[in-house]
Amino acid sequence: MEPILSVDHLSVSFTRYGRGLSRTELNPIRDLSLRVEPGQVAAVVGESGSGKSLLAHAIFHILPRNARVAGDIRYDGAPLTRERAESLRGREISLIPQGVTWLDPMMKVGDQLRRGRRDPDTRTRCRQVLERYGLGPETEGLYPFQLSGGMARRVLIASAVMEGPRLIVADEPTPGLDARTAVRVLGHFRELAEEGAGVLLITHDLELALTVAGTVSVFLDGQTVDHLPAARFQSGQGLTHPYTRALWRAMPKNGMEVSGL
Ligand SMILES: Nc1ncnc2c1ncn2[C@@H]1O[C@H](COP(=O)(O)OP(=O)(O)OP(=O)(O)O)[C@@H](O)[C@H]1O
Ligand SMILES: [Mg+2]
Repeated sequence: MEPILSVDHLSVSFTRYGRGLSRTELNPIRDLSLRVEPGQVAAVVGESGSGKSLLAHAIFHILPRNARVAGDIRYDGAPLTRERAESLRGREISLIPQGVTWLDPMMKVGDQLRRGRRDPDTRTRCRQVLERYGLGPETEGLYPFQLSGGMARRVLIASAVMEGPRLIVADEPTPGLDARTAVRVLGHFRELAEEGAGVLLITHDLELALTVAGTVSVFLDGQTVDHLPAARFQSGQGLTHPYTRALWRAMPKNGMEVSGL
């Protein structure tokens, strides 16, 4: 199947200027490739600092200005340029950012979700999507500072899925959510995938990823070191890369062994 998103040989680097003329090159993403097909939840699993958020931000062209990006990012078969990303973002492609600080502090929740539209259809969808995540209609009248951390995260997710996007990039979507809400959120990702969307689920939590993902890309030191069907992790058989095996052994059901990680 044609991927809805493909990333090939992505690299992201920064130049850090020190005292005098000293300069250091940082190369957090070096050679990253992955694919997301329609109908699929594709997980990217990597430890903290491995470049997961940089990947998400590169896709949406929201990296800081001093970042240098090379490689090929395609959405629906065509290069995802900055102009294209900006025009599709929030409708066809949508990002669930890792930090809840991405909410606009000066705008009420309802206005953020409706993006300025006031028609009855948009109002209904806004109410429905909030309800789906256990947030009542009164949430629409609140400012972000009036939300708990878990509520703010649910608002971010609601905002990202409200327009029925074809591609969702979820950057660590569940911290701060209670277990039941986290399961509901992931279940909703799977439903969106079953309806034809592609979901890129970015997380450090392999166990969580395996509850919904069809494929898992393992990310280490700026590269994808492994790309596997999720089913392979059930038995642990055929996991050849040492880091992937170490991740598998560290899962609670496999004894939480941390040596080698
Ligand atoms: N603007 C920047 N300038 C220089 N280095 C940066 C910049 N942003 C991120 N980095 C570096 O890139 C690396 C990857 O960062 P990134 O935020 O993508 O990690 P992550 O995998 O999302 O981690 P986490 O799981 O903690 O969210 C880190 O080492 C970070 O210090
Ligand atoms: Mg991150």
